[in-house]
Amino acid sequence: MLNQIALAIIILNVIGAVVLWKRDKSLLYAMFAISLVILFGITTFKDLTPKWKDIQRGYVRLLAEKETDPVKIEKLNKFPIKIRQAWNYELGVTDRCQTCHLGVDNPQMKDAPQPYAFHPEAHLLKDGRMVHAFNDIGCTICHEGQGRATTKDDAHARDIQHWATPMYPSGEKGMSQASCAKCHEELTGTEGYQILEGADMIMDARDFTLGQNDLEIKCVSCHSIYGVGEVVAPDLSTFGESTEHEFEATHIMNFIEGKKSKYNWAFQHFLDPQKVTPEDEKLGIEETIMPNFEMSKDMAHKLVTLVYSMKESAVPVKFRYRPEIKKREAKRGRIQKEIAGLYTPEEYEKLSEGEKLFLKYPCWVCHSINGKGGKLAPDLTKVGKRRNEAWMIKHFKDPPAITKKSFMPKFKLTDEQIKELITYLKTLQ
Ligand code: HEC
Ligand code: HEC
Ligand code: HEC
Ligand code: HEC
Ligand code: HEC
Repeated sequence: MLNQIALAIIILNVIGAVVLWKRDKSLLYAMFAISLVILFGITTFKDLTPKWKDIQRGYVRLLAEKETDPVKIEKLNKFPIKIRQAWNYELGVTDRCQTCHLGVDNPQMKDAPQPYAFHPEAHLLKDGRMVHAFNDIGCTICHEGQGRATTKDDAHARDIQHWATPMYPSGEKGMSQASCAKCHEELTGTEGYQILEGADMIMDARDFTLGQNDLEIKCVSCHSIYGVGEVVAPDLSTFGESTEHEFEATHIMNFIEGKKSKYNWAFQHFLDPQKVTPEDEKLGIEETIMPNFEMSKDMAHKLVTLVYSMKESAVPVKFRYRPEIKKREAKRGRIQKEIAGLYTPEEYEKLSEGEKLFLKYPCWVCHSINGKGGKLAPDLTKVGKRRNEAWMIKHFKDPPAITKKSFMPKFKLTDEQIKELITYLKTLQ
């Protein structure tokens, strides 16, 4: 409204200048002067009455409604109306979201409307205390968006063109779980299975990628994920890094229904890879070999959230989670069996430490034994004949240093574990 008035005044002045220039200069100057005062008034007024101040007054009213003690209600009159900000130099966070989202850490606000509501993630509470201190780590670390902004649209940054990290959707279509892996390595490790409460979408999607799908195909039989897997399809480990723009520039967006966005591409590609990447002579592309997993929309959304989470974390180690890791035991037995295609959980328990390590790390993705396993690297059945112990130890510690250009990863193995592995390999021949 005020913007329209300002615009009208400016247009009026231009017309006035044309009409009055020759006729009455003093009237013209008077008009300029009055307009200037009004325009100045408008800017000052706008600056003094930003929306967030109304929002904060609304919060005070809400608090007053919930309060019965008159002394405390009296105190609310002194509630400071001011910008609230979480600032963390090391994390690179300057988040003013709490300027409007005042009740995120106030359990009294459980049923309050947005933007006042208590943060919905009950799992973020432990013994009545929040495990993630919002005042310390801010909000954009999980939600993305533009932390410094003090208007809703700018802060949520969903419709700002070229803003690299718009806020994730929330609610039923929430994707903030894509951020958990920045600090919770238990979600990215290739060392088998760990649970993280509250990251159910990511864990379900991981189960799916590890072969718990109708086709019983693992994504790493074509893709690489965090250094493990094949190379016939793009490496997924950095999928989360490309901005909307970079993604559009490097992908064929022609076959996407609705808005041509990175999310829609990934979502529709999961539901029907051949629809999104078909054969097209004009564009010079071939139909993708990625199988149609016939998954549900719900699973496709979870998988998109998972691949969005795949990126290098910029979070300094001291802010990350360093737990004793809880294993997903029940599932683990099943997965090991699927991995090896050989063992029941009971049989698995009886294996030697070396063989367990071989399955756990998963050496089988690249190597085969007795013809079973990956074909990317030498079959290891007879390796005990080819290589002596000293060579193997050196090789385990740093494969490329021993075999030029080897892409075998440098696993973080202890000396003890290396011994166990060698003992196992030697028993094979
Ligand atoms: C100027 C006030 C204001 C600021 C600043 C603000 N928000 Fe909001 N936010 C709102 C309001 C009002 C709503 C209620 C829903 C609506 O009107 O869209 C909301 C809703 C939300 C929602 C739930 C609904 C949705 O659209 O997903 C999330 C999540 C959210 N805000 C996160 C943030 C984060 C993160 C920041 C900081 C980067 C932030 N907000 C900064 C005012 C604000
Ligand atoms: C540790 C990660 C994390 C941090 C930090 C965090 N949030 Fe959230 N937030 C979530 C998750 C996960 C959800 C569930 C829905 C989703 O996926 O977005 C959520 C939901 C919300 C919602 C409700 C959306 C709805 O659907 O009702 C709002 C509002 C919100 N957050 C605001 C904030 C604000 C403001 C901050 C900073 C003070 C913040 N969050 C910090 C992870 C986080
Ligand atoms: C900025 C880094 C960071 C991000 C992002 C983050 N966490 Fe955490 N999380 C931590 C740290 C550090 C702790 C340990 C806090 C403590 O115990 O004081 C923790 C603890 C937890 C705990 C309690 C675990 C336990 O055993 O005590 C859960 C559950 C959890 N986080 C879930 C999540 C989920 C779900 C997300 C994504 C929505 C997430 N976290 C995102 C750093 C992070
Ligand atoms: C038979 C091989 C094969 C399997 C199995 C496979 N993919 Fe793909 N995938 C491809 C190929 C080839 C492409 C690139 C061409 C295309 O489809 O656009 C691709 C593309 C992708 C992309 C887009 C990557 C990018 O950066 O452009 C994602 C994400 C993806 N796959 C995820 C998965 C997931 C998750 C699974 C397991 C559920 C999986 N794929 C299983 C072959 C495969
Ligand atoms: C990403 C694929 C990959 C994974 C995973 C992998 N390797 Fe390898 N490995 C290779 C390649 C490639 C070579 C051949 C080049 C070389 O000597 O480094 C190799 C060589 C070897 C050799 C020497 C073979 C010979 O005949 O000279 C041994 C022993 C070996 N790997 C054991 C393992 C064990 C044990 C694991 C699991 C802890 C493992 N590898 C995991 C790719 C892999």
